[in-house]
Amino acid sequence: MSSIELKTELAKTISSLINIDEATVSRSLERPKNATHGDLAFPCFLLAKSWKLSPPQCAEKLRAELSLPKGIASAEVAGPFLNFRFDRSPFIRSVLEKILASGSRYGSGSSSSETIIVEYSSPNIAKTFHVGHLRTTLIGNALDKILRHRGYHVISINHLGDWGTQFGFVWAGCSLWGKPANETVDALVELYRRASALKKSQEAGDLSAEEKNYPDVNEIARKYFLDLEAGEKYAQEFWQWCLDVSMEYFRATYSRFNVAFDHYTGESFYSDKLDGVKKDLEKAGVLRESQGALGVELGDHGFARIYTPDGRSLYLTRDLATAKYRAETYHFDRALYIVGAPQILHFQQIKGVLRAIGAPFADKIIHIPYGHIQGMSTRGGEFVEQNYFLDEAKSRALSAYRDQVTKRPEEIDEEGVAEVVGLGAIVYSTLSRQRMKDVEFSWDHALAFQGDSGPYLLYAYARLNGIRQKALAAGVSVTTTPDAELLTEESAYQLSRLLEQFDTTLDHVLAEYEPSYLASYALDLAAAFSRAYLDLKVVGADPAIASARLALFEATRTVLGLSLQLLGMKLVERM
Ligand code: ARG
Repeated sequence: MSSIELKTELAKTISSLINIDEATVSRSLERPKNATHGDLAFPCFLLAKSWKLSPPQCAEKLRAELSLPKGIASAEVAGPFLNFRFDRSPFIRSVLEKILASGSRYGSGSSSSETIIVEYSSPNIAKTFHVGHLRTTLIGNALDKILRHRGYHVISINHLGDWGTQFGFVWAGCSLWGKPANETVDALVELYRRASALKKSQEAGDLSAEEKNYPDVNEIARKYFLDLEAGEKYAQEFWQWCLDVSMEYFRATYSRFNVAFDHYTGESFYSDKLDGVKKDLEKAGVLRESQGALGVELGDHGFARIYTPDGRSLYLTRDLATAKYRAETYHFDRALYIVGAPQILHFQQIKGVLRAIGAPFADKIIHIPYGHIQGMSTRGGEFVEQNYFLDEAKSRALSAYRDQVTKRPEEIDEEGVAEVVGLGAIVYSTLSRQRMKDVEFSWDHALAFQGDSGPYLLYAYARLNGIRQKALAAGVSVTTTPDAELLTEESAYQLSRLLEQFDTTLDHVLAEYEPSYLASYALDLAAAFSRAYLDLKVVGADPAIASARLALFEATRTVLGLSLQLLGMKLVERM
């Protein structure tokens, strides 16, 4: 029986003896802070009033009257508490059998009929894809993977910023300085950067001798974007060229980061789907003129600007069209948007306008914000491009691996290990803090093999593989129905209890959209494994005992590997 079932049985039994309903008893049954005090504790303060006894006396009386349900081994009075212990062997057996039978499907929910859109990453094309987009990418990827594992129908979307005035600046750059010889993202970004710098100098009226010869760059950009929106051929072609150059780069970068999307439908995809929104707004009669724009007055959430005075669409306009299109196309039950905290108001306005026009899906839109990461911008205070960042992680991981792991397997592909460890370090250090917290990134912390880090977890996973290999070589027999009577050590029990908690951990993650719960679970699991492995040698133990212990570590290997993969890490078998 699972711990939840055991708790239910116990609550039923206790409730039948006292004047408190089962649900209340169940809620008060808690796990003692100190795990060695037992598995569940019942606080007897609750009985004192009706029994007219002190809480410790109530505990004594309750113990005397209680006949323990199956699966509960003992009840012990500890002051005002009655502490219960599970019957350990049946518990361990049921946990291990379940994991060993389901393998990588462990913890997967029965398939749900709910359709969930997960929109994340969504960088802006022609601007650098820098580490500022790391947190949305990694949080989104983890939620995407966990939801799929749980059996939801997930549609992952990268809402690329592939429409907007930035293309006007790239165009202006090309017309002033010529189309770049090498067609790379870097070249596009450089043109954008140079043209925007020129715009700044022109606005400030602070021009170098050379700059004085140039026409108004803002005007070129503005005209280009108007032509693009009007569907002019030259503008379309140039935009398509920018997109082609960028997409190749994005796909390669995402694959290094272990991320994939069902759809890359960015803002441009909706540029010809704006009319429906306009009609809805007009029908509802909610458009007003204010602050030099046309929009909707939302009270607490301010004035939502939807059109410029000359009728151009804005970021918000495209988001309204996006939500409408997704509702009509995918009939989503929830649409999650993993976008930074600075856009909280933007999403309040999306929902506010949708409510104002009576869109039934307004409340199915869920913004999942997150805080800042500091300390990732090196080069002259500017954010680092994602590949450079991963390259740096890799090279630092390589030296950390060589320095900190003294016993490395022979003939190991150290470069390959370093790529995985570098990514794991970034993933863990990004996901292990609660998403709304502003955090400080540190290479030393991220790459410490002894510490709360990705490398530590990956190393624990590799050790579990090592245990398995050595055991198989020594002829230890593999079983999916271990004899749990042979796993008598406290550390084996504590490890099993943690293995069971994988399921509820995933529930917590999804209830609060908080992958950090899974990150800290993985850390607890790795630590419990390390403790248990001090007590539980496999090779060299009596054959039956060795087999039971191997089963325990196999279950641990499965759950730890799964946890790391759901967080978005890649794995290496040995390191
Ligand atoms: N491209 C935007 C940015 O980098 C994020 C897009 C968020 N998604 C949305 N549907 N508005 O800030």
